Amino acid sequence: MGFLDQIEPLKQSALEELRAAPDLAALEQARVQFLGSNGRFTALLKQLGTLSKDEKPAAGKAINTAKAELEVTLADRRQELELKAAQPKEPTDFTLPGRRRTFGKRHPLTQVTEDIVRIFRKIGFAVADGPEIEDEYHCFDALNTPADHPARDLQDTFYIADDKSGAAPASDAAKPGKMPSMLLRTHTSSVQIRVMEKQQPPVRIIVPGRVYRRDNADATHNPTFQQIEGLYVDRNVTVGDLKGTVEYVFKELLGDEVKLRFRPHYFSYTEPSFEIDFSSPMVKKMGKEWLELAGCGMVHPQVFENVGYDPEIWTGWAFGFGIERIAMLRYEINDIRLFYENDTRFLKQF
Ligand code: DAH
Repeated sequence: MGFLDQIEPLKQSALEELRAAPDLAALEQARVQFLGSNGRFTALLKQLGTLSKDEKPAAGKAINTAKAELEVTLADRRQELELKAAQPKEPTDFTLPGRRRTFGKRHPLTQVTEDIVRIFRKIGFAVADGPEIEDEYHCFDALNTPADHPARDLQDTFYIADDKSGAAPASDAAKPGKMPSMLLRTHTSSVQIRVMEKQQPPVRIIVPGRVYRRDNADATHNPTFQQIEGLYVDRNVTVGDLKGTVEYVFKELLGDEVKLRFRPHYFSYTEPSFEIDFSSPMVKKMGKEWLELAGCGMVHPQVFENVGYDPEIWTGWAFGFGIERIAMLRYEINDIRLFYENDTRFLKQF
């Protein structure tokens, strides 16, 4: 067979193989078979040199045209196969609903805090704030809490080390008057002092915030928790005002069926002092008659003296609620630790 006669059949079979290649790997195989350095078409090209001068021009032209045709076919088929490979395996169903973005939610403790703040705002209270890293004076001394009070013990309070060793000086801490001076506040009551130091009566504030105690975590304790402090100072403020206000707030917050009980108690910064117990159908469901929710009382005259208010003129009440307790009641949650685990399966229920 002459040289020219070989070109057309070889080209045809190469075209057929290239066009029929089912995927990119098969296409590459076909390319190597015909156009690779040891390929059949390349072999034909190599024979060109053996032809006579007369034959060469026509043969060269024919084989180059054929080669160009093969290369175009190869490129086209490669593009088709690449497109096919990039397509999803499953056909797209355009009637499926779109993906929904899930909205975040406020933490249940934030929700309860915001509700309490809203209720107090309606009766003219303003929100105040203070530092979580507090000094002993504002957390204890100014609140009339004596140096040997158990709450000031290292067992109960986190002190901030005041030397470079990084450890709280435990031996000093036990001695009155020599305790390290900075701590994580154990209650929001420190903010009462900071506000009264800065402003003259009348005062009507609430202070939501985080507090810290050296408690081991269990179903009802956590080393960090939230309180909301309240302080009302004016002329002729009475225990009746305190009771009326607290009752109004809890009814707004937890419904009309709630019952409150004021039980005599002791706090160094109030006199008389009370604990507020709470009863509702839900508390009964928990198998209890009463649940302790808050401490409160009439601001102690010594506290007024400490901030420079005249106790002969001013009277006032103060309270501190635990937010977690209220949230647990409201949402029927039986373990305080759930609030702090950040498990979205828990959080998204509220
Ligand atoms: N600070 C108290 C506590 O942490 C709660 C409390 C009681 C706050 C009486 C007050 C108060 O303001 O007057 O248990």
